[in-house]
Amino acid sequence: MRKLYAVLAGLLLVAVVAQMYFAAVGAFDKPQDDDSFALHSVTGMMIIPALSLLATVVAAAARVPGRQIGLTILPLGLVIVQMLIIALGGAFDDSTGNTTPLSLAVLGLHALNGMAIIGVSAWVFRGARQLAVTGSRPAAGGAPREGSSARAS
Ligand code: HEM
Repeated sequence: MRKLYAVLAGLLLVAVVAQMYFAAVGAFDKPQDDDSFALHSVTGMMIIPALSLLATVVAAAARVPGRQIGLTILPLGLVIVQMLIIALGGAFDDSTGNTTPLSLAVLGLHALNGMAIIGVSAWVFRGARQLAVTGSRPAAGGAPREGSSARAS
């Protein structure tokens, strides 16, 4: 079960890295149209939330520490923040629907929150891999905790 959890956490990290790539694909697409960010939309609205949720369920079933379970659902929560940033930024557009300095200042947070999602997902994968291999989460310094069992299921 812990190995399955590590695999799902790995897939989550891959999906989040791909999401960054798809953001650039959308930004460079010419002409810009409704399809420019289609891959970014599908990965952000469906694949990352589904993987985060599924990995969390498997983490709970594998009885990993509660903090690790909480970290695993965090990418889903941060994706909701991504959507809120877009909605809030749009609210500061001008009356013709064009961006304003204020709306851009808010929308730029989408990239920063995206980096936070990468960091959290990498952290989740690191912990999940460690749990699958040694049966304990990595300690702050990176070494396995003392007294950890070598059991992995
Ligand atoms: C892990 C990182 C990221 C996640 C999870 C994420 C997630 C999302 C989500 C859920 C949407 C809404 C899609 C929709 O309404 O159909 C969106 C839209 C968007 N994202 Fe991201 N995003 C990430 C990173 C980035 C980055 C780094 C950029 C660019 C610097 C970016 C640029 C955009 C743009 C321009 C849109 C609007 C697309 C449109 O108008 O259809 N995103 N993102």
